[in-house]
Amino acid sequence: MSTNTSRISPTAHYTAYVWFRNGMSHDALATPLGRAFFHAFEPFNLAVSHISGGLTLERMLLQRHRVIDHLLHEAIGSGQIGQLLEVASGLSPRGYRFAERYPELQVVEGDLPEMAATKERLLKANGLLRPNHRIVPVNVLLDEGPRSLASLVGTVLDPERRTAVITEGLPGYFDYRVVAEIWRRLAAMIRDTAGGRYYADLHVNAELEDLWIARAFMRALHFVTRGERTEPFSTAIEASRALENAGFDRATLHRPKAFHTRVEVPVLQRPDVIRVVEAEIRAGDGTPRS
Ligand SMILES: C[S@@+](CC[C@H](N)C(=O)[O-])C[C@H]1O[C@@H](n2cnc3c(N)ncnc32)[C@H](O)[C@@H]1O
Repeated sequence: MSTNTSRISPTAHYTAYVWFRNGMSHDALATPLGRAFFHAFEPFNLAVSHISGGLTLERMLLQRHRVIDHLLHEAIGSGQIGQLLEVASGLSPRGYRFAERYPELQVVEGDLPEMAATKERLLKANGLLRPNHRIVPVNVLLDEGPRSLASLVGTVLDPERRTAVITEGLPGYFDYRVVAEIWRRLAAMIRDTAGGRYYADLHVNAELEDLWIARAFMRALHFVTRGERTEPFSTAIEASRALENAGFDRATLHRPKAFHTRVEVPVLQRPDVIRVVEAEIRAGDGTPRS
């Protein structure tokens, strides 16, 4: 399989516009391309929403953005995290928002080289890059070399700190076997620091069963961005076993609805179609460190 997956990158513009439209981002990250994609997809979103209990791409994105932010604030607030790595960060505002809110936190964003350069340029030009915040080129498909996940520990990640890693909006583009390999690299990287947490969004086949339109959309999106067919995990149980096999000590696949009393998550009139992954690597000696 090719490790050049830059055809996925334009999707980051769509999500960037959703972050911005919902008051969670800076207008510098809301590109004209993102705005154009968003409006082009609106008729499709309205049609799907009508026949599927209020499901839209925007509501799904807000569910994952807000639940992941919430879990991250909780982990940082309870002193369990000393550094944050957002992989495949695209044009997400999370890096600059967390670096501003927690000056003691080391924040690193990683994406493919072109997207990482674009992000760095936009943040710098708008005064959004703080001393505790860095952007680096990284490719989750590489096992070794200067752009691999493994190369980050000891260069931009402190081996002595506990690490939170996010891959929001990435696993959905890859076949479940490739996702399992990415998880193996991430678990090894977190273990090379002082342990920590991993957060991501995920959809599984069993929870899309009644939604032929969502499945058809995913297939079309995968064909445009990957040029190949990809299969998600069949069930949430299969995905949590894969996380444990990849080296995580504990894995939970949250349903966004479960957070509705604590977080402003859109609640659908049907079962949720995404899960939010929260997985943990305990510190090497079994004692949590911060
Ligand atoms: C849907 S966007 C998600 C952006 C952001 N996380 C968000 O939720 O707003 C997917 C991102 O994955 C990045 N990406 C694609 N292939 C990658 C790879 N092999 N390694 C690292 N990042 C990758 C793309 O450049 C893009 O920024």
